[in-house]
Amino acid sequence: MVQLSQKVALGKAHGKLILVGEHSVVYGKPAIALPFPLIEVKSFVEEIPESIRISCDYYDGYLSTVPNKMKGIAACVVETLKVLTPHPKGLLIRLESTIPLGRGLGSSAAVAIAIVRSLFTYYKRELNQKVLSSLVNISETHAHGNPSGIDMAAASGETPIWFQKDREIDQIQIGAPIHLVVADSGRVGDTLSAVSGVKEKYKTDQHKTNASMEHLEEITYTARTALSGGHLKILGHLLDLAQEELTSLGVSDDGINKLVHAARKAGALGAKLTGGGRGGCVIALAKNASHAKSLAKAFLIAGASKTWNFSLGNKLE
Ligand code: PMV
Repeated sequence: MVQLSQKVALGKAHGKLILVGEHSVVYGKPAIALPFPLIEVKSFVEEIPESIRISCDYYDGYLSTVPNKMKGIAACVVETLKVLTPHPKGLLIRLESTIPLGRGLGSSAAVAIAIVRSLFTYYKRELNQKVLSSLVNISETHAHGNPSGIDMAAASGETPIWFQKDREIDQIQIGAPIHLVVADSGRVGDTLSAVSGVKEKYKTDQHKTNASMEHLEEITYTARTALSGGHLKILGHLLDLAQEELTSLGVSDDGINKLVHAARKAGALGAKLTGGGRGGCVIALAKNASHAKSLAKAFLIAGASKTWNFSLGNKLE
């Protein structure tokens, strides 16, 4: 058995929700994202006699022999260690996560953020957002191809954000508490193929796809105003409109549509997919906290594998 040293460094990151603007954000349009602290990743780093190992539910072994799905994480660890030390020690990186994989809740970004944070803590070095972002981007590029960076920004921050590629991130004010229900379809979404599908649409029908992007942009701007003014009915309607556009872009599917309809039937102010789509999760805006409970029931009856009730006010609840 490997004798572990006493020194253990911890790094954490939470999940994220995209309220509105997924996919159009890849094309330079703005999006609104929220930290989702009900689920999180913890990365523990400790010294072991030799080599670098990584241990999680999915894999337990040498960093150099990780499966394909974890190659981005491995590249991120290697580059992070290059920044930290010329002679890396033998290390064990142990991951614990409550963020389901591939559901558009920011799992891949959160894993990378937690790992980078834990390695910086282990080497007692300060980590700024710019360095964190560039290191996490290494693994996100493996996972998504051409990530907008929104997952990294939302999973590493503590407030709702207005995100636009290559621009400063803005914090968003919330005028009245919002009560969201997140429902997991139980199916892994495929962000890479959804993003490629939209790119393909751009080639085959540029005019229509451009119009969809512009509509999503307009919806996102109006949603920001509705959020800061506390106009929940308008916000809900905007979520519905965004879902329509995402459906026409081909990133929703029957399972997602079924959950969206169940939420609306149960009186949701609005409902849409969140994240890459084609599987993954749906969010619904409830009228209040007790209505959120009945929406969660409706989701489960409609086949959701899990739900989370999440309230956001002037501060995270
Ligand atoms: O990682 P996901 O599934 O939440 O997707 C992120 C949002 C997209 O706009 C679909 C992709 C991106 O890079 O912004």
